[in-house]
Amino acid sequence: MKKAKKFSTYKNNNIILSPLPSEVFIFLASGMHQEWQNKAREEVQNLNDLKIASKRVKVGNIDIPGGTRAWLHCIMIQSYGENLLMRFAEPRKHSCSYIPFGVGPNYCVGQTSHDLTTIFFPCVPDVCTWSNGDDALVTSTCLHQIAFLFFDLLFKFNLERLRRYSRFSVVEAPVGIMLCHAVCGVSRKQAVRLIWTPWLIRRHFEKQGISGPPYRPISGNTKEFLRMYAEARSKPMTLCHDIIPRVAPFYHRWSAMYGKTFLYWHGCTPRLVTSDPELHKEVLMSVGGSFERVDANPLTKIFFGQGITILKGHQWALHRKIADQAFKMERVKSWIPDIIDSTTRMLNKWGNGVEEFEIEVSRDVQNLASDIISRVSFGSNYEQGKEIFKLQEQQYHLVSLASRSVYIPGFRFVPTKKNRERRRLEKLTRESVRVLLEKNKQAHNRSGNLLSLLMSCHTCVNNKEVRLGWDEIIDECKNIYFAGKESSADALNWALLLLGMHLEWQDKARQEVLSVVGSVKPPTAHTLNDLRILNLIIQETHRLYPLGGAFVRQATKGVKVGNIDIPAGTQIYLCMAAMHHDTELWGESANEFNPMRFAEPRKHPCSYIPFGFGPHFCVGEKLAMIEMKIILSMILQRFSFLVSPTYAHGPLFMMGLSPQYGLQLVFRRLSN
Ligand code: HEM
Repeated sequence: MKKAKKFSTYKNNNIILSPLPSEVFIFLASGMHQEWQNKAREEVQNLNDLKIASKRVKVGNIDIPGGTRAWLHCIMIQSYGENLLMRFAEPRKHSCSYIPFGVGPNYCVGQTSHDLTTIFFPCVPDVCTWSNGDDALVTSTCLHQIAFLFFDLLFKFNLERLRRYSRFSVVEAPVGIMLCHAVCGVSRKQAVRLIWTPWLIRRHFEKQGISGPPYRPISGNTKEFLRMYAEARSKPMTLCHDIIPRVAPFYHRWSAMYGKTFLYWHGCTPRLVTSDPELHKEVLMSVGGSFERVDANPLTKIFFGQGITILKGHQWALHRKIADQAFKMERVKSWIPDIIDSTTRMLNKWGNGVEEFEIEVSRDVQNLASDIISRVSFGSNYEQGKEIFKLQEQQYHLVSLASRSVYIPGFRFVPTKKNRERRRLEKLTRESVRVLLEKNKQAHNRSGNLLSLLMSCHTCVNNKEVRLGWDEIIDECKNIYFAGKESSADALNWALLLLGMHLEWQDKARQEVLSVVGSVKPPTAHTLNDLRILNLIIQETHRLYPLGGAFVRQATKGVKVGNIDIPAGTQIYLCMAAMHHDTELWGESANEFNPMRFAEPRKHPCSYIPFGFGPHFCVGEKLAMIEMKIILSMILQRFSFLVSPTYAHGPLFMMGLSPQYGLQLVFRRLSN
């Protein structure tokens, strides 16, 4: 009774009961129906009489090992109520009319544990006063909640292990329970999410022969993942095309240990990583909507807003329809003069008339790509979009940092330095895009480009006319601007690097350009089609340096892909970069630059997908290919070039695959 009093003085404690276990309601019910409480007590008093079980004993159905202590001190202070509990002594009319733990294959795995904790509760030491409407109930319920957490955590609903619990003494048990609660600091639900479910998922995949690095609660494998990236990016690599150890270090290391398909943990989310082309095909085609895009990190969302690269479902379908119209082949061809004009302006600045010169081209190439996307999509030029461009550069850096880490819910609202900066940049960007759109409204309406399409009315799935809101238009412009600028610039950088390294291919490409296009005239839609070698070079560039790197999708339901049973909620990380470098698909020369391989049929139709596959296939592919051909052929017409000795090779995934230390090339002007 001493201890009982002690407990009952813990009034107004602030332990939060969330979620309330079902046992709370058992307390309430027995508090309301005293005679049932008494009956239950009578039954348990037999236990009480035992005090300490001197030997192993069976009480009812419970097997109690020797040494177990059983105490019960209950004070009943509740009025009599209606007795309805006997209904459970009678057979039920329908076997399924009472299914609090569910029924069928998903029947609650925790029922055994629940039943036992309910029965064991009086044995949990010295829980004293028992009423409803009193703080003591809260105290006892909290203790019970903790006990339940303890059971869940330590015994994983396993009856055999549960029995071992009784080896703890009356002092050790509550201390253990309290410690457990203090150390874990999580609710029962979270314990299941953080420990039990990952354990089940690991076992599920292990049974199918898929393993991976061990799971660590909360952070998963993120720490190792980030450490490997930090290590890889800390120094340049040798000048070769074996880029996987640097651009996907986790894949390089873990695939060597666990095979080409393995499981790792992005926080507590399971990620199935693979470089298998068949899996790429099935997942990206997403037959029956079994896979969808992974929700963007909220910090990434600040950058992309509600644009095509983030949206899902009907909203995405509408934006996609508009974007497809905007980037149709005829339209892209009509932009050729704009692309030529922007390129000519850049090339005229190179070298200032000097015969031989070295420049860091990646910055110029970025400016050019930005100029082009700005002109073709929004009718503005680089100067007009300069402010947006600068702001996006800064935002881009912060977003790429955020996208690689596990997002902690609510973190974006914490006023950290980076978060404040993100918000400031976001606000400024939106304002600048809005001003730009207002300014160019009339011109866009006449031009029929992306902006005017975004501003017009559209018919959606149920034949309703819809018009995008102002914010949606701004977000979409940002998405296209970003997707178009970064990827085109990076693709050009890598093509220039490869041509600067492999001079025999540079010569072949130049010969072709000079014979098809000529040495002075810019290319046309017609002549571009005939640049076969240049086309092969561009394809090989995309294979060796795939800008997207990987596709991440999430299983919306349990689904079988190939031989693998994938539970709902699993993320699939399709490592396109590794697939593009796989020796089984591309032969021993997989890491070598050999454009001629694209003159042969491929082993697997899905082994080469630099622009994606399935419904999310790149909207800007035609524009990107034409742009690359024009710029490369115009450079080849005027200059020969090679990689500068000052160049440090550092392919790095930021949002796309960029040269970490820039691209230094030495140019020599060609005499026409
Ligand atoms: C060499 C250049 C480019 C490469 C390698 C590239 C690559 C890709 C890839 C792999 C995807 C699919 C992403 C996924 O399935 O999750 C994609 C989607 C997309 N790309 Fe590109 N892209 C390039 C240029 C462009 C350009 C120039 C534009 C626009 C002007 C553009 C706009 C988009 C958009 C809007 C999407 C999202 C499509 C959707 O979700 O439905 N891309 N791109």
